Amino acid sequence: MKFATEAIHSSYDSDEHNRAIMPPIYQNSMFRLKAIGENVPFRYARLSNPTRKVLEDTVAALEHGAAGFAFSSGMAGIDCVYRTFLRPGDTIIAVSDIYGGSYDLLTEVYAQWGVNVVFADLTDAGNFDKVLAENSNVKMLWLETPSNPLLRLVDIPALAKKAKAAGVLVGMDNTFASPYLQNPLDMDCDIVFHSATKYLCGHSDVLMGVVVVKSEALAKPMRSMMVNTGGVAGPMDCALVLRGIKTLALRMQRHCENALELARRLEQHPAVEKVFYPGLPSHEHHELAKRQMRGFGGVVTIWLKNDTKEAANSVIQNLNIIQMASSLGGVESLVNHCYSQSHSGVPHEIKTAAGIKVGLLRFSVGVEDIEDIWADVSAALDVSLNT
Ligand SMILES: Cc1ncc(COP(=O)(O)O)c(C=O)c1O
Repeated sequence: MKFATEAIHSSYDSDEHNRAIMPPIYQNSMFRLKAIGENVPFRYARLSNPTRKVLEDTVAALEHGAAGFAFSSGMAGIDCVYRTFLRPGDTIIAVSDIYGGSYDLLTEVYAQWGVNVVFADLTDAGNFDKVLAENSNVKMLWLETPSNPLLRLVDIPALAKKAKAAGVLVGMDNTFASPYLQNPLDMDCDIVFHSATKYLCGHSDVLMGVVVVKSEALAKPMRSMMVNTGGVAGPMDCALVLRGIKTLALRMQRHCENALELARRLEQHPAVEKVFYPGLPSHEHHELAKRQMRGFGGVVTIWLKNDTKEAANSVIQNLNIIQMASSLGGVESLVNHCYSQSHSGVPHEIKTAAGIKVGLLRFSVGVEDIEDIWADVSAALDVSLNT
């Protein structure tokens, strides 16, 4: 099956659910046993739940993996991956422009528990060899591409090949691309993660993380950690994300079209110093994006010529359709001031060194009419010229 078909029909057999066309919401914490020791597929919802199972199998199918795991938030999913595969004394190498929450989890939790946390600029894949040689007990490489908020890319197959040769497990945060645009497991990664809160859900009404692993050998310890620690997704949330996934292909097509058009127009606006979008020939990783992705995604970031909080605030306050909010990936267009929102916990020097300046604005471009989006953004930018 092709992606759009698989997103609608994969992993669900209506005959197993009273012929219900949509996967029913099993709002149950437990399932009946008729005899001691009876072997039943579902017993207790922390272990598994039929609605959650359909979702986990669907995302696993879309990511070409062996098994999926749905958590109550993206961070709970990433935490379960790290807890399963890292021990005190191990080293994790993560890309330097990682999502702010993942940075906090590594520095404020894992580093405190004796994991050696190393951030590295891996936009040049050769850099990985250097970092590997400088550190011992390297167990995991954690990638995020395109990254948040500068949409920088790393070469997934090249890095995964190097990591494989060194016996290092490769995990990849695929939230920004979604499985519609990129399948890391097909490029030799071992684990793929989604904050399903974003594109998989697509309607800004659920918090969820989904992890997919490549092999049953990786699934076994993940399953055990998930059950033991219990941060699982609830059935209602799973049903909402399943509904979202049915239109993922349609939504991603429109997100990509709108984002590319907006990025092109923004490049011409006098208030904008630089536009970051992998679909633009001016983007530093445009050629890699064409090779590695099937489209360029729905996030566009701009850096204002007037690199001040006042100018950024002026744009935000003069937007009418586009609202300021912390997340992305929903049908509605949003703006985010990364310096004070998604990356608020990251120290100033690290943020500015990574290019996350005070005059940076990230747009999650929705599926509205592009002319309405452009009218809103261009008018707000026009006003900011006077700040
Ligand atoms: C790239 C990325 N990874 C992980 C997360 C964390 O996911 P959640 O907020 O669902 O816990 C986010 C959330 O913004 C994200 O953007």
